[in-house]
Amino acid sequence: MAQKPSRKSPTRPSRARHRTLAVYVLNGPNLNLLGVREPEVYGRMTLAEIGQAVTARARTHGLEVIFRQSNHEGELIDWLQEARTQSCGVILNAGALTHTSVAIYDAVRALDRPLIEVHLSNPYAREPFRHHSYVSPVASGVICGLRDTGYLLAVDALADLLKDQTA
Ligand code: DQA
Repeated sequence: MAQKPSRKSPTRPSRARHRTLAVYVLNGPNLNLLGVREPEVYGRMTLAEIGQAVTARARTHGLEVIFRQSNHEGELIDWLQEARTQSCGVILNAGALTHTSVAIYDAVRALDRPLIEVHLSNPYAREPFRHHSYVSPVASGVICGLRDTGYLLAVDALADLLKDQTA
């Protein structure tokens, strides 16, 4: 017997429509100091320079970027909640909150969008307290240790995931 075509709920946008929304790139505490803070660990690029490179890379995939940084956990959570409806996906470097914040874990769990976790350094090659991430269990993927290149790879990976959604 022929199957009935499935009917989408008129109140819920289809996954395909998410792709027209921006990618949110969210950065946590102390990442505003990039370029001057421990350049041997995090590299010499400033966050503004990373933002420009990420925006340019996203354009090659036809994606717009909203790039933000905050030193405040609550502000990051507000942005993750905003991203539930205003983004097609998120790239998140939560800085030290990665290792401490159950609230960030809960916000990412509630996201309902693909999220790539990024770190400039490789936390697993550093102090033991950096070996646990509250983001990784709820992330679509994790990129670390590749400095600013990791952000660009995250854009490519997110674009791929979004293509899979629309296929
Ligand atoms: C970081 C790694 C974290 O352990 C650290 O607290 C940071 C930056 C990174 O990008 O390598 O602030 O997220």
